[in-house]
Amino acid sequence: RNFTRLAGAAVIGLPALHPARAEARITIKFSHVVAPDTPKGKAADRFRELAEKYTEGAVNVEIYPGSQLYKDKVELEALQLGAVQMLAPSLAKFSPLGAQQFELFDLPVLFDGRESLRKITEGEIGEELLKMLEPRGIEGLAFWDNGFKIMSANSPLHWPGDFKGLKMRIQASKTLEAQMLALGAMPQVLAFSEVYQALATGIVDGTENPPSNMFTQNMHEVQKHATISRHGYIGYALIVNQAYWKNLPGDIRTELDRAVLEATEYGNSIAEQVNDEALEAMKALGTTRFHELTGEERAAWLAALKPVHEQMADRIGPDLIQQVYDELE
Ligand code: LMR
Repeated sequence: RNFTRLAGAAVIGLPALHPARAEARITIKFSHVVAPDTPKGKAADRFRELAEKYTEGAVNVEIYPGSQLYKDKVELEALQLGAVQMLAPSLAKFSPLGAQQFELFDLPVLFDGRESLRKITEGEIGEELLKMLEPRGIEGLAFWDNGFKIMSANSPLHWPGDFKGLKMRIQASKTLEAQMLALGAMPQVLAFSEVYQALATGIVDGTENPPSNMFTQNMHEVQKHATISRHGYIGYALIVNQAYWKNLPGDIRTELDRAVLEATEYGNSIAEQVNDEALEAMKALGTTRFHELTGEERAAWLAALKPVHEQMADRIGPDLIQQVYDELE
């Protein structure tokens, strides 16, 4: 309400009496698990800046990065209880919300680049997926990019056979479990905040991540080898507690929607570069040896991984998968 008055004052040329920071009545807590210097961290920070600017300080956004407030899984509960208002969990982590269709994005060797991915996230399928969250009291606002994953371990990973017997950390997704099993590895679910320690102490042997996550968690210090396989994708859905969001004053919502849109465009425009830079930085440090798949090796990965689509069809939905194939054709 105060915001409306301030805006009105600006229109009729009165001096802005109280830049509102001190008066901010609406606080949005936004919790996430990665470092600030990642695509998600940067998009979240941009959202904070824009939301505060566009509402002239009527909204105050508090960002809690690096799992400092909540870890995976707990953060989803916190959102539903209203302890936080905004999150951007990885698309691999939506099954506890009854939306296992999101595991679509975990299918290996599905997307051949960002353009094909955009056809899904920015099309009808993406919209339908976000709508599936509504019965759980959650509103999906946007898809945020990270990037394509690389595989790491302490031994070279050139061929599918190289995974045999390795314990590989995964996010909590049945599709990622099937993917690791298809490679002959032993998948192990761990919260993101625990991965570095688990790698350092040998609880797991390896993992998969976009370079930006690997680098900002210092995983390169504890992984001697990595293969630039780009076999799968990690991205996010920006989500809010729906009751909270719907009850915000209309003029505030309008400005927040604008902030979301622009933060999304920003984050998605820098994600690839952030990952490229992280990869270059790790190469320069030299603690991990990076391998590009040869054509023959890639064909062997493809043959090993493609059957995962069929295996997961019942879980994700055969019609949905077919729709995606049609869209990507
Ligand atoms: C992971 O758990 O590996 C990722 O989902 C972390 C993230 O949010 O990027």
